[in-house]
Amino acid sequence: MILLNASDFVGKGLHRECYIHPNDEQLCIKIVVAGDLSESKREQSYYKLLQKRGINWNILPRFHGVIETNMGAGAVFDLVRDFDGKVSRTLEYYLSCEQLDNAENSGISQAIRMFKQELYRQSIITMTLSPKNIMYKKAGPYEGRLILIDNIGNSDFIPICSYIDCLAKKKIRRKLLRFEQTVLKMSMHNKNLQQCLIN
Ligand SMILES: Nc1ncnc2c1ncn2[C@@H]1O[C@H](COP(=O)(O)OP(=O)(O)OP(=O)(O)O)[C@@H](O)[C@H]1O
Ligand SMILES: [Mg+2]
Repeated sequence: MILLNASDFVGKGLHRECYIHPNDEQLCIKIVVAGDLSESKREQSYYKLLQKRGINWNILPRFHGVIETNMGAGAVFDLVRDFDGKVSRTLEYYLSCEQLDNAENSGISQAIRMFKQELYRQSIITMTLSPKNIMYKKAGPYEGRLILIDNIGNSDFIPICSYIDCLAKKKIRRKLLRFEQTVLKMSMHNKNLQQCLIN
């Protein structure tokens, strides 16, 4: 059994806490702390589908299975880190930063563009796309890519879109339109970034 330390805590959302894997600093362990396991189960079954399809993993962390921990069952994923080894920050953090220099703004807007293209190209279905569930993984001081860490999969009662590509793409287009609006709204204190996003 894996023992999780408070010192390895990375972050939490409404349902899960995320810890650095004590035996491998490139991995994280996510524990459900509120609500039931149904969301996690759905996520894992969609992951299985993506693994079978052999997707590229350039915008999603890989999933490495479930392990036993002192806090209960833990889902193991790649931990998103920047080029300097620091755990990456969320897109929400960067969008609400008022003082980013122009090179950084252009890196973020480039990353957003690439993320949208890849989500669509690889037909990866999501629930609401929220900047708090997307990490900006910096590959250098002024460049990076976005990695989606939550709300992956299909919550429809009959998830037919997961199996029919044109329906999946239609759904993804809708999610991306909403996401674009959210991103613009969240970056309202950073006019330079908004400019990069619109151009
Ligand atoms: N793979 C990862 N790499 C780095 N940090 C991560 C990773 N997964 C999660 N985190 C951190 O842990 C936090 C919580 O994770 P997550 O969003 O999966 O929890 P959640 O409870 O399902 O969220 P929500 O409130 O959106 O339902 C994230 O906001 C992020 O800071
Ligand atoms: Mg979350």
